[in-house]
Parts: sequence; C-alpha cells; structure tokens
Amino acid sequence: MTPDLRVTIAGVEFTNPIMTASGCCGYGEELAACYPLSKLGALVTKSITLKPRLGHPPPRTAETASGMLNAIGLANVGIDAFVRDKIPFLEKQNTKIIVNVAGSTLQEYVEVSARLADCPRVDMIELNISCPNVDKGGIEFGADPVMTERSVAEVKKVFPRPVIAKLGPNVTDIVAIAKAAEQGGADAFAIMNSAFGTSIDVETWRPRLTNNRGGLTGPAIKPIALVMVDLVHSNCRLPIIGIGGISNADDVVEFMLVGAMAVQIGTALFVEPDAPLKIITGLKEYMKRKHLPTVADLVGKVRKY
Ligand SMILES: Cc1cc2nc3c(=O)[nH]c(=O)nc-3n(C[C@H](O)[C@H](O)[C@H](O)COP(=O)(O)O)c2cc1C
Repeated sequence: MTPDLRVTIAGVEFTNPIMTASGCCGYGEELAACYPLSKLGALVTKSITLKPRLGHPPPRTAETASGMLNAIGLANVGIDAFVRDKIPFLEKQNTKIIVNVAGSTLQEYVEVSARLADCPRVDMIELNISCPNVDKGGIEFGADPVMTERSVAEVKKVFPRPVIAKLGPNVTDIVAIAKAAEQGGADAFAIMNSAFGTSIDVETWRPRLTNNRGGLTGPAIKPIALVMVDLVHSNCRLPIIGIGGISNADDVVEFMLVGAMAVQIGTALFVEPDAPLKIITGLKEYMKRKHLPTVADLVGKVRKY
C-alpha cells in the first residue's frame, strides 16, 4: 500500500501536507537550487508589505538552547517588486503558492491582498496578524478579536481565493482570536507564529538583537504550538496548518494528531534545507508502519485522557 499524502484545505488540493514557513526561505529561489519545489506541498513566501522594507539592523538573529530568536522586522521587497520580479519565478514552480501578507494598517493589508488577487497562481494568502517583531501592525491586529475579524473580512472582500489567518501565541486567548477570524470569513488557520523572547549578552549587558526582543522559534516552541493547535481544533471548525519547531516526521504526526491537516517547516530549513524531503519520506514510512492509507486518518485522532 502506498500511503496517500494528498490533503485538501479550503478546496485547494496539496500533493502532500509539508509546506515551508513564511520568512524561512524568502521567495523560494535559493531553495529551488537545492531541490525541485514540486516536492513541497506548498511554498509560503516571506511576508509582503506595500512598500519595500529593510527591516531591523543586524544582529537580528540569535541562537538559543533549542531554537533561535529573530527580529528581522519584516524585511521584504514590497508588493511592486514582488509582483514584477518574484511572481514570474514562482509561477514556474509546480507547487502551490501561498503568499504571506503583512501591514502596518488595515488599508495596507487590503491593498497588498488586492494586488495579489490579480495573480492567478497565488493559490492562497496567509495573513500575518501575529508578527511579534514590528512596532506597528502584525500583532496589533491578531491580539484583538475585533481587529482580527475586521482585517480578515476586509481582505476577503478583495481576494477571491482562500485566506489563511496566521495566529500567534502572544495573546490571552487564542480561541477568541480564532473565532473572530472565523467570523471574519477566514478559510483556514496557520498556528503558530513565533513566541516573544529575548537573550542578553552577559559581557556587554546588551540584548543580542538590536530590536531588544524578538520571536522565539524552533524545537523550544513545539509544545506551545501543539497546545495552541489542540485548543483551536477543539473549539473551531476551520482546517489548521500547524507550525512550530517541526524538524522530523514524528513532529508532523504529533501536530496532525492534535488537529493539523498540514504543517509548515521553518527554523529546521536553516539547519537542513532538505528537511521537508526527509520529513515526507519519514511520514510515508510511518503511515506504512501504522497501516494508514491517508494522512486524514491522523488528523485530530489524539487519544486524550
Ligand atoms: C528568520 C525568520 C523569519 C520569519 N519571518 C516571518 C514572516 O515574515 N512572516 C511570518 O508570518 N512569519 C515569519 N516567521 C515565523 C515562521 O513562519 C514560523 O511561524 C515560526 O518560525 C515557527 O516555526 P518554526 O519553529 O518551524 O520555525 C519567521 C521566522 C524566522 C525564524
């Protein structure tokens, strides 16, 4: 029996449930030099804003005991250059394309999304309403249920294909935010963005990031992400894409058991760019060993006490 890795999320069919996470492989060009992107279920781009952004000055990443901190500050080429220079490359890739959208104002989210509506190969957009690394925007939207609902609803008016709400852990009640996104018309959730964190150099007494704090990612955040996915899966109806510290097939199985239909790989790409391929092979082996014909057989099947 060959396990069937296909999954369908909001009507979009993916050849397998393994995607890259936003910000961890730019716009795909460098990764495509390592292996054909057709091997991925989807490529998720770096967050795109209206105007180009340089981001925060370096150092803007720092290693931690079991993960990394980053405060990139949404550095990106901006929507004009993205449509002109990056979309033609992405259009040639035989994988699903998800463009992550960020903004400092509601209008910015709407304008960027409206531009992407004209790019038919953009299969979905992922709304970054949970970035912990910028002063304005990002988390301001995703920490407040009213703003969450409004931002999703306004973007849905201008973008005709599915919209994923990317939620973060730096909120009081992720279920309230998820319900607001659902109310606004979101088609799926991506859970989760990075967790607030910092690190201080004891010799200089200075923070290791020029932004003073940033987002913690990698294996350190996996237990937090699993509980966030579980909470939202138990209380909401939309499909979930799980993210947070995934570096092998067992990690993917854990996320699926608590309710994720697909997953994204972030920090692991910096360690092993071909981690997604190893994960796909490992997932197939796991499914064969457990006699599971489809990945859907795993979703939400955790045997709770
Ligand atoms: C260097 C870096 C840059 C990131 N940039 C973005 C971004 O632009 N937009 C976004 O929504 N998430 C961004 N993220 C968060 C990831 O997409 C992901 O949610 C997070 O890293 C958790 O997954 P991981 O533990 O597998 O890395 C970034 C993460 C890292 C490490």
